[in-house]
Amino acid sequence: MSFTGSAHPSAKTISRAEKDSHLSDKEFSNIRTQVEGDIGLIFLNRPSALNALSSGLMSELVEAINWFEANGEIRCIVITGSEKVFSAGADIKEMSVWISAEALKQANLERFDLLKKISKPIIAAISGFALGGGLELAMACDIIVAAEGAKLGQPEINVGVFPGAGGTQRLTRAVGKYKAMEMILTGVPIGAREALAHGLVSRVVPNELYLAEAKKLAHEIAQKSPLAVSIAKESILKAHETTLTEGLAFERRNFYMMMSSEDKQEGMKAFLEKRKPNYRGR
Ligand code: CAA
Repeated sequence: MSFTGSAHPSAKTISRAEKDSHLSDKEFSNIRTQVEGDIGLIFLNRPSALNALSSGLMSELVEAINWFEANGEIRCIVITGSEKVFSAGADIKEMSVWISAEALKQANLERFDLLKKISKPIIAAISGFALGGGLELAMACDIIVAAEGAKLGQPEINVGVFPGAGGTQRLTRAVGKYKAMEMILTGVPIGAREALAHGLVSRVVPNELYLAEAKKLAHEIAQKSPLAVSIAKESILKAHETTLTEGLAFERRNFYMMMSSEDKQEGMKAFLEKRKPNYRGR
């Protein structure tokens, strides 16, 4: 069995010129995108509402993520906010007038599911507040880098609801039942160091370094075999969805499949020839 084509089936080859012109032409109202070599950056950008995740912002976010997924030159995605706030959660103003039928029609919560379907790794770089849907967005990413001053919480209980974009599930899987209960039932946020101690974030760095650290990590991952990275991501996510026996079988099957990939040949050949590998995602 051999792998042909790109690691990402939906990827089409877009030249650097096309890519850059597309991005500079692209006008988003609630986010900003930037390409830095092999990584794609998405900045949540609604400062007047502390980057609240309105329907408009969420649909632009989905568009940007899908575009980076389809762009063969981008190998890792970073989602971030500003130093003051990653995101204060779902847009309370917008939600306050919705009844169930309207909320269902908007399908904002379903948009969070997209992230686990993306084959490229997504890093959340958080600083300031990551609350409610903001924390749920970060948790739907694959790695979380946090500034040491970041505040992470699920305060929905204070506005008469509870987490609806994955918080009751992903937070519980990350920190366990007891801490998740405390955070969700009181709504009180925790600091970055406490989050790290509970396994809720991957790394904590000084405030001024959170974005640089996330980018460094993204560039590092971008050097690896895109095929191995995407299959590893899929296998790790599987661990949350299945039994150990099925998960091990899934991992093993994919590992055997990778044996016939060009990236495996290149990686091992480069090691033996004492040079840097040149991966093509096949
Ligand atoms: N939605 C809409 N607008 C928001 C918002 C939100 N989640 N959070 C903040 N804002 C707005 C405020 O209304 C305010 O707007 P105006 O200037 O027009 O009045 C502006 O952002 C600045 O906010 P504050 O003045 O409150 O700023 P602060 O620094 O004093 O407080 C904060 C910061 C502690 C984050 C506070 O804004 C806050 O508690 N926000 C709400 C957090 C929250 O409850 N999030 C959960 C939302 S529900 C959810 O996410 C459901 C889900 O699971 C999907």
